[in-house]
Amino acid sequence: MKITWHSHSCFELEDSRRIVIDPYLDNNPAAHAKSVQFNPDLIALTHAHADHLGDAAQIARRTGCLVVAISELARYLDRLGVRTEGMNLGGSLRVGEIVLRMTAALHSAGITQTDPPLCGGHAAGFVIEDGTSVYHAGDTALFSDMKLIGELYRPEVALLPIGGRWTMGPREAALAASWIRPEVAIPMHYNTSSAIAADPAEFQELVETLCDTEVVILEAGDCLEY
Ligand code: NI
Ligand code: MN
Repeated sequence: MKITWHSHSCFELEDSRRIVIDPYLDNNPAAHAKSVQFNPDLIALTHAHADHLGDAAQIARRTGCLVVAISELARYLDRLGVRTEGMNLGGSLRVGEIVLRMTAALHSAGITQTDPPLCGGHAAGFVIEDGTSVYHAGDTALFSDMKLIGELYRPEVALLPIGGRWTMGPREAALAASWIRPEVAIPMHYNTSSAIAADPAEFQELVETLCDTEVVILEAGDCLEY
């Protein structure tokens, strides 16, 4: 699988299909790519906050790709003319060769593009299996059921937020990695703005003291072949 980080929480997974997670691109000061460059088969959304929902509706309307999200967010996107499949925490969905498992995340989830915000359901993470098994934690606090995610789905790659303030910081994310025990952990959701400044090397050093997981630090636009 080719795993490309487009900064923040936006990743593209390419194996049998092209999957884009949380396409925050056109208003993202750290992203090099623009939404018009994307032609995914599927978009997975962890939650409705603007830095995750991002350009999902525009990409989906242009390409006709499927968007997978928690039920309330899927219904909101239906009304914007997007083809969606809703699901919920703890559930699994098969789309062709791909299996998506929606995991819990400890975070809020209002649709912040509207004023006032609408109910966006719950924040989530995903374990996405398409050849390789990848856990995208979404925005979340540390919670000990991450051990269960590791035990149940044994993800080979974990994408973990380290920016602090709205999510785990390096210390919490390192403990998360030691509980999930993936082969590779990639830090995300940091240095997009000064509010979430974090040092990925600090995360890397902490993980190395706790477990055998290899931390791979990507630059925006870089990819890992796994
Ligand atoms: Ni959020
Ligand atoms: Mn966020």
